[in-house]
Amino acid sequence: MKYLLLTVFLFVVGCAAANKFSDAGEKLYAEKCSGCHRLYAKKDFSSSDWRLKLEVMGKKARLAEEEKKEILIYLTK
Ligand code: HEC
Repeated sequence: MKYLLLTVFLFVVGCAAANKFSDAGEKLYAEKCSGCHRLYAKKDFSSSDWRLKLEVMGKKARLAEEEKKEILIYLTK
């Protein structure tokens, strides 16, 4: 019983951490990518397209490598 509770606890904590990470990506996306044009919807592009767009737009938005990664995770999950 003790172990079951522990497992449930770790699962919940793990999910909260994962959510926080994707929230960061969402926030960065809104902050960094809305300066020049509207924010495109996640579904407007496929994962591989987003990857290509971010290579180009990441330079325009002067994203750090870390920021690009977080935004990409948000846009492609
Ligand atoms: C400095 C201005 C600027 C910033 C900042 C910027 N963009 Fe753009 N973006 C543009 C311009 C200009 C276009 C349209 C012309 C083009 O495709 O190069 C565009 C077009 C796009 C398109 C559409 C391309 C297509 O094929 O229809 C997407 C998607 C996009 N940007 C994503 C992003 C994302 C994601 C970010 C944040 C990382 C971002 N942009 C930040 C200037 C910017």
